[in-house]
Amino acid sequence: PVLVVDYGAQYAQLIARRVREANVYSEIVPHTMPTEQILAKNPAAIILSGGPSSVYAEGAPRVEADLFQAGVPVLGICYGFQAMANALGGKVAQTGLREYGATDATMSGQARSILAGTPAAQNVWMSHGDSVHEAPEGFEVLATTSGAPVAAIADDERRLYGVQWHPEVKHSDHGQRILENFLFEGAGLKADWTTGNIVEEQVEKIRAQVGDGRAICGLSGGVDSAVAAALVQRAIGDQLTCVFVNHGLLREGEAEQVEKDFVAATGAKLYIADEQERFLTALAGVTDPETKRKIIGREFIRAFETAEAEIVKASANAGEPVKFLVQGTLYPDVVESGGGEGAANIKSHHNVGGLPEDLQFELVEPLRTLFKDEVRAVGAELGLPAEIVQRQPFPGPGLGIRIIGEVTEDRLNTLRRADAIARAELTAAGLDNEVWQMPVVLLADVRSVGVQGDGRTYGHPIVLRPVSSEDAMTADWSRLPYDLLARISNRITNEVDGVNRVALDVTSKPPGTIEWE
Ligand code: XMP
Repeated sequence: PVLVVDYGAQYAQLIARRVREANVYSEIVPHTMPTEQILAKNPAAIILSGGPSSVYAEGAPRVEADLFQAGVPVLGICYGFQAMANALGGKVAQTGLREYGATDATMSGQARSILAGTPAAQNVWMSHGDSVHEAPEGFEVLATTSGAPVAAIADDERRLYGVQWHPEVKHSDHGQRILENFLFEGAGLKADWTTGNIVEEQVEKIRAQVGDGRAICGLSGGVDSAVAAALVQRAIGDQLTCVFVNHGLLREGEAEQVEKDFVAATGAKLYIADEQERFLTALAGVTDPETKRKIIGREFIRAFETAEAEIVKASANAGEPVKFLVQGTLYPDVVESGGGEGAANIKSHHNVGGLPEDLQFELVEPLRTLFKDEVRAVGAELGLPAEIVQRQPFPGPGLGIRIIGEVTEDRLNTLRRADAIARAELTAAGLDNEVWQMPVVLLADVRSVGVQGDGRTYGHPIVLRPVSSEDAMTADWSRLPYDLLARISNRITNEVDGVNRVALDVTSKPPGTIEWE
């Protein structure tokens, strides 16, 4: 693989994605990994990422000169570039001159080496305080900016390169070209990592892991569990049973979508556990959001265990236990929890689609190395319909955390209708791709006066929460066209009993979260 050494900013994931967009496989490793361990992974090339430190800061992460003597092509980016220059005997200065954001870069002489094919003047995205003032010996200076006299360097002989700016961000002109120059010209790699290869490779791996054992997979209705299940089904066929727990907190048409579309596309064995009663009973009288989440999570596990016991009882080789549990864990989850080396997970979300590891199963996680967009591509490759692979995120606890107040069957029906209308209008307006997701919230504990027909009504408000986001960590409210909002509002107030008002949430995240609970 191409190894991206993570110096602690968010850039490492972005770099890894850009490398994969060039159809080259990449993995992220922490900067704390010793050099010999990095080299033991047999990297085809190494990219040192940016990071928040100054090479002058006490305890600043270093890079050992050994890394550059192994004959592996290296590209240093931003902090990684400075650490590299420092390690190889160049000069890094604290100029006090900072450059942030869009910056003009000038190629010294012709744009060549990793800058080949890019213009002599380009706009690049910078974020640095220190800068390299003298290139290490053997390097040619390829570019300068007003704040960085040495903004890009190359030693084509040793195949070592560095750039001060961030080629991985879209604001840098020609950034992808520069990365590709490094991968294909500098490191001599081939663009042979494709979705088709991923499927083949994973199918083989799954077969090797599972052998003739039996596996189950919880389907949540979301993209990740559907794609994981489809991959495992491709690998082991009927040895897999998919379990779909219908907790009654789903949106209109969702249960049917799993039952029909998923099975039609994959041919997977599906066990449906209708547990709507169980969840409604457990949620009766509960209004506190965290309590709701805990109850839903707990009941989900119980429902899943019951389903598993039923499956074991009903199978031909009754009594033989299910040994494997398929999970749709993605690469960002693995990286964020310390690259799989056991650090604490920084996400506090209760993932109802996912199950705790202390259930007595060995885990099968075929998406562990993939980013979300790659998971979607794999899903499409496996023949899953767009309705499943392009689906917007939906929280595991479902409509349970979109009813502000107690969850009851009536309220669920009201919210389901309003949500279906809002979604249908958004789709009809062709704006599905403009919004990241659009929670529709029922303020069940709030009442408002209205007038409908000839009479006074005393109903409930519905809140629309359309947001744009990259990764759900931050978000902004979507500026949807007024006429679309008007259509949604008219239809909901006319067609949904008990709702006499529609409000729009115009809060970014932070300070608001995307969901209301
Ligand atoms: P918040 O509300 O924290 O949501 O801004 C961020 C993203 O996470 C989704 N979400 C959840 N997903 N289980 C999930 O699987 C949960 O408990 C959960 N809570 C929120 C939310 O829809 C948004 O995409």
